[in-house]
Amino acid sequence: MLLLLLLLPMSGLVTEALFGSHCQDRQLKPCTRGCSWGQERHFNGVANRVLPGHGYCNLTVASPVLCGRECLIDDRCFSFHYSKGERRCELNGATASRYPMAMIERAGTDYFGLEQPSFAELLTNGREVPISLTDCWYHTHASAASECRRTGQHLCIQWELDHASKEGYPATPPSWYADPDSQAVLTETGVTYQDLPLTAPSPGLCCSLPMTYRDPVITPQSYELADRAGQASGCSDLAAHPCTLAELKEAYDRGYKSGFWLYFAIPNRDASVARCTAHYGNECYQDTIANTPRPYPRARVYCCPNRV
Ligand SMILES: *[C@@H]1O[C@H](CO)[C@@H](O)[C@H](O)[C@H]1NC(C)=O
Repeated sequence: MLLLLLLLPMSGLVTEALFGSHCQDRQLKPCTRGCSWGQERHFNGVANRVLPGHGYCNLTVASPVLCGRECLIDDRCFSFHYSKGERRCELNGATASRYPMAMIERAGTDYFGLEQPSFAELLTNGREVPISLTDCWYHTHASAASECRRTGQHLCIQWELDHASKEGYPATPPSWYADPDSQAVLTETGVTYQDLPLTAPSPGLCCSLPMTYRDPVITPQSYELADRAGQASGCSDLAAHPCTLAELKEAYDRGYKSGFWLYFAIPNRDASVARCTAHYGNECYQDTIANTPRPYPRARVYCCPNRV
């Protein structure tokens, strides 16, 4: 494994005058206008790996350092590939930390991105990385959540971050996760959850549906009884939907239990995932899931993972 730390000057000299090869094909930016990225300007290399599908421009330059400069002066660029043999510099509109599962081997071409060297280690060890960090930095929880949904992911929930940290996911800047009122920071030693800084834009931590995510998850927020759209969207942030009675029963049969009275798929009712003791008739689904037409005016929601 190769870990090149290229300390690139912030005021990257324009190299097109020297090489006459500046990127002509100006496509749409991969991120919305005003997308900012972090303060880090150090590219780390991973030898013989590429991130396919996100290149938007090939240049011919004499070294990876010059390729890095091209990347820094182009606000569409988040990472690059450099092939020594052909002196080919391919600029990418995304990083490997956004698409960690997409990296493939390609002899003679090195990937350079903004991630920490320990991220490169994680990738080259061939570990599954079901968590990713958005390339753009967002001002709101909602816009970070929507970027996660674009790739079929959801903003990570707390136990997913704790798990990722134990599995060696590298340190992150303060980042949005599923709890709308706070941010999480992964450090070398664990996850810190902190109160929201009101001003700083932050990346989002997106999680894929892990195998263990079969049980219902509860929305971090409460919703008004009539706010069905809010309830559905709270679940959707978790790559899930409000559970049906059949799904709650199935979860119960697998061993999931929860005594909280929360909203679920049927409007104007609440349910608890415990054997019915004081509920009968249409207030007890299949002898298992108690549910009533007397819900609280505000509650959280049982969400069941979307099956892919
Ligand atoms: C850059 O060149 C390589 C090798 O020819 C090719 O595989 C890749 O698709 C090109 N990228 C772009 C954005 O044209």
